[in-house]
Amino acid sequence: MPSRSFAVRFGIAASAALLVAGAVSANAAEKTLIDKGEVLVRENCSRCHAIGKEGDSPHKEAPPFRTLAKNYPIEDLAESLAEGIVSGHPDMPIFVFGPHDVEAIIEYLQSIQAQ
Ligand code: HEC
Repeated sequence: MPSRSFAVRFGIAASAALLVAGAVSANAAEKTLIDKGEVLVRENCSRCHAIGKEGDSPHKEAPPFRTLAKNYPIEDLAESLAEGIVSGHPDMPIFVFGPHDVEAIIEYLQSIQAQ
């Protein structure tokens, strides 16, 4: 029955290929979210904060984003971003972001934290 065992083997190979395709698209979705977060912080925050993995903040009192995790978990920022982040600093405007934007910003911030 050589043809039957070929079918079985082909079936296994096909489902393995599907698994790989699924993993790749999950990573791609996450990458897209991080990219979106990067665009949002570049547009809204980069004139004061350093938003990348290196470099100094243009505003000397604004902490570089890669150092935020030193002070508190990045996830804690999600609430502040959604409800209006207030730093207590008159220089920093109040921002309010929708839930998808918040998720993107959080993913981005997590992706750049200094180890
Ligand atoms: C006009 C300048 C300016 C812009 C634009 C700005 N910030 Fe800030 N931000 C500051 C300054 C200055 C501080 C330091 C505040 C302090 O020490 O009280 C700060 C502090 C922070 C902190 C730390 C707060 C804390 O309690 O430690 C976070 C988080 C933060 N900013 C996030 C953001 C995000 C996210 C954006 C963009 C959506 C943004 N900032 C845009 C000036 C700015």
